[in-house]
Amino acid sequence: MSTVAVLGLGNRGKNYGGHLNKLDGVKIVSICDKYQAKIDKVKSAWKVPDDKCFTDEDKFFAQGKIADVMVIATQDRDHYGHAIKALNLGYNLLLEKPVSPDIKECLEIEKLAREKGLKVLVCHVLRYANYYRRIKQIIDSGVLGEIKLIKHDEHVSWWHFCHSYVRGNWRREEETTPMLLAKCCHDMDLLYWFAGAKCKSLSSYGELSYFTKANAPKGATATCFDCPHKDTCIFECEYQYIGRGLKRNKFPWGTYAFCTTGKKKDVAEALRNGERGKLWSRCVFGCDNDVVDCQTVNMEMENGVKIVMTANAFNEKDHRHTEIRGTKGELIADDTGSVIQLKLFDKKPKKIIVNIIPVIKGHYGGDQGITKSTADMLAGKLDPNGQYTWIKDTIESHRIVTAAEISRKNGGRKVDMTEIPDIEK
Ligand SMILES: NC(=O)c1ccc[n+]([C@@H]2O[C@H](COP(=O)([O-])OP(=O)(O)OC[C@H]3O[C@@H](n4cnc5c(N)ncnc54)[C@H](O)[C@@H]3O)[C@@H](O)[C@H]2O)c1
Repeated sequence: MSTVAVLGLGNRGKNYGGHLNKLDGVKIVSICDKYQAKIDKVKSAWKVPDDKCFTDEDKFFAQGKIADVMVIATQDRDHYGHAIKALNLGYNLLLEKPVSPDIKECLEIEKLAREKGLKVLVCHVLRYANYYRRIKQIIDSGVLGEIKLIKHDEHVSWWHFCHSYVRGNWRREEETTPMLLAKCCHDMDLLYWFAGAKCKSLSSYGELSYFTKANAPKGATATCFDCPHKDTCIFECEYQYIGRGLKRNKFPWGTYAFCTTGKKKDVAEALRNGERGKLWSRCVFGCDNDVVDCQTVNMEMENGVKIVMTANAFNEKDHRHTEIRGTKGELIADDTGSVIQLKLFDKKPKKIIVNIIPVIKGHYGGDQGITKSTADMLAGKLDPNGQYTWIKDTIESHRIVTAAEISRKNGGRKVDMTEIPDIEK
């Protein structure tokens, strides 16, 4: 039996714990979250005894090593401290991304794990989704010839962007991470994986251009409740989170961030009076957000592959669009419906539909994929030819984002990757 301890029972920790709990040969033996309500939501389903449930991380860590692996799913700036404590106790880790906004901290975790002979899988879950695995297989099969250009767009929907990056947890860089790291370290990881080489140099542009006070409609109030634009504004909080006047079925989404029950009356109360909920009733043009809403990154990889990546908030739906061009053909893929179009030169085009699991339902199956790999890791059943997201591979995505942020903050100057610290040889 492999044993698991989970630290952080928010959206991600609850999700990984839920998948792990369903696997044969895996038992969750201890859990910790600052909020008792989050513990109460899972402890019976996961059969964790009361004396192994903690709201105080010091007491949780004071148990010593009581499981084979620790899931660390706390917030971005806490991963480093929690990972170092857990590695020093001898835990293998399933560690949420981004590992840390500070590349030196990422390198420290990698070094400590290496020195202690412990395994750290980073939750770059997209690599475990069949859709992205299929793209990688096609590249590796050679049918596209030599890859010359990759274009990849992360289209974040306007409602998701507002929830997370304007009103929500990832709105301020100093509290969490730059948007490119929070939202796109996955994408940087995929691009490095697809290109098959590390980045040589890059440049980046981006800014917070729309969700600012200057763009507030005339007379807009600080919160939505008494705003004169209440009935027409698409960002209005009761429209977004309670579904008032609901015309489409994508709302309400994200209420888990500030309301544990998700019931309409509790959501309404949380938006008006909840300690956290009040954050999500603020006007999107009057928040304290500072992360970018539109960014581009231009990369040259060490093997000559050129990459253009974009991320922006101005989309109806969340989706990623990828184009890969080689000397023998092109691959055009969109994860809406997981469709890959293969156009080999002078041949009949082919459409491949991989599987239709939406991103919001577990990253197209990637969440289940990584938890299964965690169980395989503990049971010593990893595929020797398998593609896993070990910390040493994750470092490159975090180096790329570090370089892109230096470039973006310096007017798009070219950054040579030798400027960015790397794993010691
Ligand atoms: N892999 C992915 O695709 C993916 C997607 C979204 C978010 N994330 C990342 O996952 C992490 C968690 O995100 P989330 O959406 O679950 O956030 P969340 O805020 O819902 O969950 C974090 C949980 O950790 C708890 N917590 C924080 N500090 C704690 C402490 N010291 N002791 C005990 N509990 C503590 C909080 O109470 C909360 O329940 C973040 O780093 C985020 O950037 C990853």
